Amino acid sequence: MSKKLSRRQFLTYTFGGTAGFLASGMLFPMVRFAIDPVLKKGAGSEYVETTMTEAEITDSPKAVKFTIHRKDGWYQPPQGEEQTAWVFKQNGKVVALSPVCKHLGCTVNWNSNPQFKDEFFCPCHFGRYYKDGRNVPGTPPAKPLDKYKTKIENGRLLIGPLEKA
Ligand code: FES
Repeated sequence: MSKKLSRRQFLTYTFGGTAGFLASGMLFPMVRFAIDPVLKKGAGSEYVETTMTEAEITDSPKAVKFTIHRKDGWYQPPQGEEQTAWVFKQNGKVVALSPVCKHLGCTVNWNSNPQFKDEFFCPCHFGRYYKDGRNVPGTPPAKPLDKYKTKIENGRLLIGPLEKA
């Protein structure tokens, strides 16, 4: 069997190799650019102090606003981003729920629909959640609300990273 390379094979390998080399040279920076924020260590892992004191946390959910400073891709607003959490106590433990509906991302509110008392309600498609954040079966959301980590320091509530449900 001859091990000679035909002219066609030689050209195929040469052009294929060159094209692969050029493509990888273009693709690597594009992929690196796209995933760069993910590669940054510790992004979004800090706790942020809120204005809420421990004494203000009751069994009834209250909206707490806080500001986080993070890079979204290459953009980092200098004044930070305002976020909200629904905070309450459950069996003595502090719970902080994200207000972002797990259906299509609208904002949920506590007790905002008189038809559904003591529930979180999403007005976009009538999504409903129990107080502990579990989605009510038969309504559009298929997952519970995400929870923030929390801690109390010097009598004040601190909000930490989101724990995806
Ligand atoms: S976005 Fe909330 S129910 Fe659809």
